Amino acid sequence: MAQYDLGPSTLAKEALRDREPTMWRYREVLPPCEPISLGEGFTPLHHTPRLGENWYVKDEGVNPTASFKARGMSAAVSMAKHLGIQTVAAPSAGNAAGAMSAYAAKAGMKAHVFMPKDTPRAFIVECDYAGATVNLIDGLINVCGAEVRKFIDANPQDPPIFDLSTLKEPYRAEGKKTMGYELAEQMDWTLPDVIVYPTGGGTGLVGMWKAFDEMERMGWIGAKRPKMVSVQAEGCAPIATAFANGERFADEFPNAHTSASGLRVPKAIADFIMIDLIHASGGTALTVTDEQMVAATREIAVATGIFAAPEGGATLAAAQILRDRGFIQPNDSVVLFNTGSGLKYLEALEDH
Ligand SMILES: Cc1ncc(COP(=O)(O)O)c(C=O)c1O
Repeated sequence: MAQYDLGPSTLAKEALRDREPTMWRYREVLPPCEPISLGEGFTPLHHTPRLGENWYVKDEGVNPTASFKARGMSAAVSMAKHLGIQTVAAPSAGNAAGAMSAYAAKAGMKAHVFMPKDTPRAFIVECDYAGATVNLIDGLINVCGAEVRKFIDANPQDPPIFDLSTLKEPYRAEGKKTMGYELAEQMDWTLPDVIVYPTGGGTGLVGMWKAFDEMERMGWIGAKRPKMVSVQAEGCAPIATAFANGERFADEFPNAHTSASGLRVPKAIADFIMIDLIHASGGTALTVTDEQMVAATREIAVATGIFAAPEGGATLAAAQILRDRGFIQPNDSVVLFNTGSGLKYLEALEDH
């Protein structure tokens, strides 16, 4: 992962006051390049007392392309452009493909996306409109990843096609980590007691954990960390299963299925990084059913006005389970990450 020479003089918190409300406000701790930006980041942190007294929703659905994936792709495409790359390719469950296509369009680069053929329509149409070549694959994101590698091998170019697969390059996690920076800034340089995050490939969790360490090294926050909670779908739960079995590496999850397409990641290369950080934080990993996440998505909409992605709904369902178990205490400050917008998931959400 990317390392910076960090200390108290890298960036003063006070310098942020006059900066633009995007993730690039933290540019000293981001890849050194000219940003390709659509205004990503600095998303609202809503206090949502009707969900829980001291509970908040960080609404990533208002990002460009309607998910937190905009952050990673803004960083990665900016750096690719900086390095002279002309073509990018990535496998995706949907949101990353939409984001990559949009940022590649803005950068004047060519994008090739590889998605499962039953990916929700909105993602496919979005990529197509941004000029990407859309490849629909008979298999899940890991099969799509293998297709990307075959495609790059079969199409040697100078400069080569840049593989933007999750955590195969260092820049996407750098963009995602800005969620951790923002949370601290929006909570007046404290961190919540608990963060609940819907987990697929894991860059959200891994990126935020890195941000907390970086902020501590710059003297912005102390040593206290939130309990990091990973939520997965019952139909695709490699991390939650490995965690429950006391293992550090996760087996590929068989017959992976869930209508929260972002959580349909049967095998994550960052499994051990996620499991280590969940343990180090005193957190946990758990699953919810598709029915629970869709019901919770409606509950979020009714109680807060936010039309969340089902992945966001999963965080509320999980937090309620953890409150019932006593893992979340009545006074705990809890941040639920709504990672995307419900508008892209109408097939999964209508008629419920
Ligand atoms: C809306 C949404 N939430 C969560 C995730 C999972 O994120 P990560 O792969 O960073 O764990 C995804 C991934 O596609 C997603 O699209």
